[in-house]
Amino acid sequence: MHFSAIFGSVLAPLAAATSHSGCAPCKSSQIEFASTFKQPEPPRIKHEFTASFVQHKWNVNLSHITQGYITNAASKGFVAVNQANEDGLSLSFFDYKNVTKEGLVDNTLTTYRPNDKPQVWRGYVNSNFPIFQDDMLITSGAVYTGMVDRDFVGLVASWSIMYQGVIPVTTYVDNDNKLVGYDYFAPELRTRATTRFYNIKA
Ligand SMILES: *[C@@H]1O[C@H](CO)[C@@H](O)[C@H](O)[C@H]1NC(C)=O
Ligand SMILES: *[C@@H]1O[C@H](CO)[C@@H](O)[C@H](O)[C@H]1NC(C)=O
Repeated sequence: MHFSAIFGSVLAPLAAATSHSGCAPCKSSQIEFASTFKQPEPPRIKHEFTASFVQHKWNVNLSHITQGYITNAASKGFVAVNQANEDGLSLSFFDYKNVTKEGLVDNTLTTYRPNDKPQVWRGYVNSNFPIFQDDMLITSGAVYTGMVDRDFVGLVASWSIMYQGVIPVTTYVDNDNKLVGYDYFAPELRTRATTRFYNIKA
């Protein structure tokens, strides 16, 4: 399970034909209670991007908010995440070319804490930062789950998948096929995580 703990959603306004920054006028066929509604085919998403992000993950034992800058380099097979939070500053490099059959990914983590030398750690982890491939929603048979008003980006389409067959993940995609965030929950520890992207360059 890559998503040890990641993905949430806000109900979409029904009369959502108007435009917001994230969504040029939405098609009426995308609006759930419109007579013209028809489930769209899942889109290809842009899989080479950088973005600022904020992520909140919580479960029975923790509540962790972090923010930073992420690079999703699907063609090169890596995700790089620079973060600042209560643990200090960290650089996390996830090498998705080196993944175990259980789905654990090679992570090199460099941490900077006050009054300490930088620490480098490497090992396999359950990543909160999956690698997004352009055909991911298509190959996983994503279900359209409506238009959603998201912080920072406005009205966008939501698509839900079962990540690795076990973790329900909802992704948010704007009209330009840019991924603007993802939410998930995992029942085991009652874990929930919500991740928002902004300042996206794709
Ligand atoms: C979560 O907290 C409970 C109660 O303190 C503890 O028994 C359990 O081991 C913790 N689980 C994890 C994964 O830390
Ligand atoms: C794969 O990842 C593991 C765990 O981090 C690491 O020990 C190993 O050197 C990596 N192998 C390659 C070929 O990079």
